[in-house]
Amino acid sequence: MSGAHPIPRRALRADLLDFTGDPGLGAPGLGMVRHRPDHWLLIEHGRIAAVQPGARPPGPDWLCEDHRGQLLTPGLIDTHVHSVQLDVIASYGSELLDWLERYTFPAEARHADAAHAREQAETFADALLAHGTTSAVVFPSVHATSVDALFGAAQRRGMRLITGKVLMDRHAPEGLRDDVSQAQAQCQALIARWHGTDRLAYAVTPRFAATSTPEQLAMAGALLQLHAGVYMQTHVAESRAEVAWIARLFPEARSYLDVYHRAGLLNERAVLAHGIWLDDADRKLLADTGAQVAHSPSSNLFLGSGLFDWQAMVDARAEVSLASDVGGGTSLSMLRTMADAYRVQALRGVRLSAFKALHSATLGAARALKLEHEIGSLEPGRIADVTLWDWAAGSVARSRDALARDLHERLFAWMMLADERNLVTTLVAGRTQYKRRGNDAGALES
Ligand code: GUN
Ligand code: ZN
Repeated sequence: MSGAHPIPRRALRADLLDFTGDPGLGAPGLGMVRHRPDHWLLIEHGRIAAVQPGARPPGPDWLCEDHRGQLLTPGLIDTHVHSVQLDVIASYGSELLDWLERYTFPAEARHADAAHAREQAETFADALLAHGTTSAVVFPSVHATSVDALFGAAQRRGMRLITGKVLMDRHAPEGLRDDVSQAQAQCQALIARWHGTDRLAYAVTPRFAATSTPEQLAMAGALLQLHAGVYMQTHVAESRAEVAWIARLFPEARSYLDVYHRAGLLNERAVLAHGIWLDDADRKLLADTGAQVAHSPSSNLFLGSGLFDWQAMVDARAEVSLASDVGGGTSLSMLRTMADAYRVQALRGVRLSAFKALHSATLGAARALKLEHEIGSLEPGRIADVTLWDWAAGSVARSRDALARDLHERLFAWMMLADERNLVTTLVAGRTQYKRRGNDAGALES
């Protein structure tokens, strides 16, 4: 953890990699990829001040850290993750709706206890940073105390975090249900307390259409009308059984996504997890409203939900970002998430490039969240959220890395073989918030 006082001027020397635009889904080319091997990243007052070649070090009034031969990227962005589901990661043997009943709801009910909520929120925030994630869009629980705990944990670490109280007024167990007027009052109070404070933003958070009455969804839409700049997050079209259930609950809607559209929930600050079972009209609606899908490949594989059609989203010009969806997903690592995204696309006959995968967890996510002025790239003026990585850890990955013939081959091997062990340091707003302890993982055999 960092000390109490910010270091005003700090410079890191490493291989810098970020993006100036969307590199495209497959066929790796170097367009939009900004690779600056052996460069200094200069950080002043928590922001990126400049980038200059390694041979031109900054002056004596800079604290210089030489990480030559390591990879420096923007901090990673996870656009859909549940802070209250750490206890249910890797729970055996069920698909979505049964998994929610058997494992997830009981774990979330424990967050009614404020002390438990606080402890888990601190663990969660540290775990994000230890995986290289500096910004996240997060589901806590239905309890307002879990929202306070999470915003507080992020604020203490200086993180960019978007979250809000989960709305559920039906089809959930006692202790996890709210009602329309109580939920509305709690949301108003939480928005007043947290939205726009430091790097925190509020998200109106109906869990999914099955757990909110039409009246509660309408209330959520009204909140968005009332509070410009507030986000919206939910789940959509994740499993076939879920889609069939929503069709029975909302027979008047054209589709699952249309339920949210009718409630006024789709806009350019809307983040919808999964979106596997959408059709072309849905994808056009996403593009027209500017809402994004948070693609969660680890979760989709683990729960057996289906194979996301990323190419159809590209064709429709709809936004896609990447997400761990822990605890449906089995790792907070956005690198493992990228590797799973590659596997899902491979099963669809599409070869996701490592450039597109990393873009989707950095600049692409930042743009989809309308936060590219703050995060997602190494552009001067951006807040200095950055991660430093070993290109390879262990003998197998090191020999593979040594054989890579070009940048894409190297980055792809990194993306497929690396995980949080490769992470050396995580900086949030220029301050060290995670540092690998003990052995240099690069020297470990595995
Ligand atoms: N749909 C509604 N709630 C959830 C959840 O907690 N996780 C996932 N993966 N899907 C959901
Ligand atoms: Zn989820």
